[in-house]
Amino acid sequence: ASVLVLNGPNLNLLGTREPGIYGAQTLKDVEALCQETAEALGHVADCRQSNHEGQLIDWIHEAGDRQKSGGLIGAVFNAGAYTHTSVALHDAIKGTGLRVIEVHISNVHARESFRHHSYLSPAAAGIVVGFGTDGYRLAIEGLHRLHTASA
Ligand code: DQA
Repeated sequence: ASVLVLNGPNLNLLGTREPGIYGAQTLKDVEALCQETAEALGHVADCRQSNHEGQLIDWIHEAGDRQKSGGLIGAVFNAGAYTHTSVALHDAIKGTGLRVIEVHISNVHARESFRHHSYLSPAAAGIVVGFGTDGYRLAIEGLHRLHTASA
């Protein structure tokens, strides 16, 4: 089955964006890591990035349908700054029942207070925070475990 790997705003800048916080790995590197991790577990990673909230919502709707038909085990989602602002993304996850693991490269709780609240966390099955880009691997492994436990 597929694993949706969804990255939100500014994550296309990984590698050059505040490398002291987000590291030197590019989005391409991260997506390769996700593909490798998914394949080792017998899945395929479907990696997408958008800077547009509406596009992310459309992809969540589509993924919810794919999860219902058994073609998708869920999603690993780094919503970037939309994490801290978007009721619409919260509603999209709740409304579709998509199984989501929320990922943040940095430890958002050790940063500015405006990063401490997440609209996604109450809708997420699990959260991986502060492990750098390796967090995507941990999130896919965790998603696979939840899927296996529920299957
Ligand atoms: C981030 C943390 C967010 O606060 C920030 O807006 C990002 C990246 C992270 O991966 O650490 O864009 O989600």
